[in-house]
Amino acid sequence: MSQLRFVVFGSNGQLGQRLARRLRELDLPVEVFAFTSADIDVRQRATVNEVIRSLRPDWVVNAAAFTAVDRCEREPELAFGVNALALRWQVEAADAVGARVCNFSTDYVFNGQSVEPYREWDRVDPLGVYGRSKLGGECELRVGTDLNIRTAWLMSASAGNIASTVVRLAKEGSVLRFVGDQVGSPTVADDLSEASIQLMLSACTGNFHVVNGGTASWYEVVRWILTSLGRDLDQVVEITAASVADRYPAPRPAYSVLATATYSAALGRATDDWHDAIERVVRELDLQ
Ligand SMILES: NC(=O)c1ccc[n+]([C@@H]2O[C@H](COP(=O)([O-])OP(=O)(O)OC[C@H]3O[C@@H](n4cnc5c(N)ncnc54)[C@H](OP(=O)(O)O)[C@@H]3O)[C@@H](O)[C@H]2O)c1
Repeated sequence: MSQLRFVVFGSNGQLGQRLARRLRELDLPVEVFAFTSADIDVRQRATVNEVIRSLRPDWVVNAAAFTAVDRCEREPELAFGVNALALRWQVEAADAVGARVCNFSTDYVFNGQSVEPYREWDRVDPLGVYGRSKLGGECELRVGTDLNIRTAWLMSASAGNIASTVVRLAKEGSVLRFVGDQVGSPTVADDLSEASIQLMLSACTGNFHVVNGGTASWYEVVRWILTSLGRDLDQVVEITAASVADRYPAPRPAYSVLATATYSAALGRATDDWHDAIERVVRELDLQ
């Protein structure tokens, strides 16, 4: 196999870190050029163009994103700049050197009114700026050339996500309050990273939903984290989304489970159930 070259943007993010690390660990001839937000701002057309043209990768992996959903409502220019327009710059530079783009998107492109898991071809109708800006990024991609991976509810042993926050607060003895009437697809960033790399190595293009198996509310996720830690389930209290709506300006879909049949059809494998995946993360966090 000839050497594969990857450029990764947003490589200090939860997913970007794992993608860059896992790509480097592959037992294949690969070269990985990873850029943090401090190295390269993906909104800068000239910089993006220069790095892609000089490194001539096979894949441009866009793990850069403005993911603070509530801040996106207040800062739409930044949201559209990072999540949408930056894809135009990456695609035009990739096009010039014959590279493909692997982009990541979100369950928030859907309005949450479905009662069954969303497939890749279901009607998109984002409720807020974050989802609209991510959909904008999807629209910049080339059909038949680029890869768009929609995921959801990402968790990992890195700081600043629900799993790591809950483990920390649980150990401090805090009472936790989590929403029970929003249902989605909990997903572990390591599993997403591995699945994404396999899609790239298999030269897949188009739109894929990649999440861990099963569905849950945040309340159920937190109960499972507490169970995995061996802690009392009374430590979490179930609340409704409406009761905290004034604290979180961005509207969230009530139901955003993603169907992964397309991923399974492409690679002949399913993703792990979220319970097993989160238990792995909790074990890692418990050792820290
Ligand atoms: N997290 C979730 O629950 C979730 C759910 C659905 C979909 N997704 C999607 O999954 C992907 C990965 O998410 P994640 O959780 O890894 O997000 P993350 O941890 O917030 O990482 C995003 C990274 O992008 C970087 N970045 C922001 N603006 C940039 C810019 N202008 N130029 C270059 N880099 C920039 C950030 O840098 P700084 O560290 O400097 O801010 C950060 O390192 C994203 O496409 C996201 O939309 C995430």
